[in-house]
Amino acid sequence: MDLIPAPSSAVRRPGEDFPLDDATTLTAPPALAGAAHWLRAALSAATGLPFAPGAPGAGVELVHDAALAAEAYRISVRPGRAVITAGGPAGALWGAQTLRRLLGPDAFRRAPLRRTGWVLPGADIEDAPRFGWRGALLDVARHFLPKADVLRFVDLLAVHKLNVLHLHLTDDQGWRVEIKRYPELTARGAWRERSMVGYRSAGRRDDRPHGGFYTQDDLREIVAYAAERGVTVVPEIDLPGHTQAAVAAYPELGNTDVVDTSALGVWTDWGVSHNVLNASEATLRFFEGVLEEVLELFPSEFVHLGGDECPKEQWKDSAAARTRIRELGLANEDELQSWIIRHFDRWLAERGRRLIGWDEILEGGLAPGAAVSSWRGFGGGIAAARAGHDVVMCPEQHVYLDHRQADGPDEPIPVGFVRTLEDVYRFEPVPGELDEAAARRVIGTQANLWSEFTDTARDVDYRAFPRLAAFAEVAWSALPAEPAERDYPAFARRLAAHLEVLDALGVEYRPADGPHPWQRRPGVVGRPIEGPPPVR
Ligand code: ACM
Repeated sequence: MDLIPAPSSAVRRPGEDFPLDDATTLTAPPALAGAAHWLRAALSAATGLPFAPGAPGAGVELVHDAALAAEAYRISVRPGRAVITAGGPAGALWGAQTLRRLLGPDAFRRAPLRRTGWVLPGADIEDAPRFGWRGALLDVARHFLPKADVLRFVDLLAVHKLNVLHLHLTDDQGWRVEIKRYPELTARGAWRERSMVGYRSAGRRDDRPHGGFYTQDDLREIVAYAAERGVTVVPEIDLPGHTQAAVAAYPELGNTDVVDTSALGVWTDWGVSHNVLNASEATLRFFEGVLEEVLELFPSEFVHLGGDECPKEQWKDSAAARTRIRELGLANEDELQSWIIRHFDRWLAERGRRLIGWDEILEGGLAPGAAVSSWRGFGGGIAAARAGHDVVMCPEQHVYLDHRQADGPDEPIPVGFVRTLEDVYRFEPVPGELDEAAARRVIGTQANLWSEFTDTARDVDYRAFPRLAAFAEVAWSALPAEPAERDYPAFARRLAAHLEVLDALGVEYRPADGPHPWQRRPGVVGRPIEGPPPVR
């Protein structure tokens, strides 16, 4: 059956197949109506069969079993009958995804190639995820990804049973979320005059404005569309660094006693800008206003506030920042950054939400409910887990999907470490040195796709796939903890069938033997990191 991610168990029952036809019904209790709605839409589109509602006990049926975990499901296929038994709506959606997969790659098309010959193979499947947070980050700030492409990416996450879309919505190079009370954030902040082409050392730029943003209704649509597929959208508003686009829109947010922020535009370089927020009460109020609107748009428990890579030069030069540090009784600029994060940590907690941030936020101490995205390696995640914080493991040495998939000159804009499909398959999110209690704090793992060098959905496809399929199996399936013990050849065999699914979905993944000619970017300089990535 070649399922990716691999289920807990799957037994084929030859001779017990269930051929589908016009009379095949699809039935579900009210609690699972959402999953039934999605499954009917997907199967009807691909097969041309109606899957009309019918009586329980026949056809395709979704059944709720409170004894199963919320994301767990079982599938049983026999002649004339296919039952998805699920612990809740999420489990029903994952079971529905698996059922579609049982029909073969053409079941992933949006219109039928044929109306006959659709057969569910006789089978018994049991399945449940390893981690509750199975995420992917899209950086829609460095290069905007149009809404339609984001919706398509949500579909691809759901196919792989990934359940968190982390949207990096703001950065030095662009602000992508409409905030009604601060219209300049998008009027000025959502576009830049030009972009670097490749990395800084090449000195190449285009002369084409780049921009775009999501209206609040766009984001409501994305959030609802994702929820219908079992995916939670976690917004990221990065602060107090990575904020030049916001400062360009509202110069009073910057360190006005150090630089003339009224002369700043949205940054046209890649890298980390020195133009960070000031720490005034007015700036805190401004971002509380931003977050009030963000909370209305995104019902997720977690809200990501970045907190990474905040250069301190301007604060060191700023009399206002020095006064602020003294008044707050802080020792230095590092403590000022921590103080800002803790302020918003409390602010979110008072509103029933939880802060998550990059591992730099750990440095100043955190409120008990805050969680950490461990990106600079495993160290931040290990320290956070031992301190009792929830952790999402996303170390850049292992699961940054902007990083190149192979060595060699053909990779389009080589970036970062070489991380092959097999490397990703052998990534283990829970460091062996954690004791059991700390290991339980690793609530999941995430693959991050930064977009300095991916300016279209085609580029996103190339960098994300097929590695995201390997990552999905790491996040979902009960693989051996010891990376060397993982059966990569077996995964590679199942991947051959999975690539047919990606073909049917129109995904422009990286071919195993290297990029197609049109996927190369000859002469565009990247930022390769030489040598093997450090092991954990
Ligand atoms: C990051 O890659 N700066 C989180």
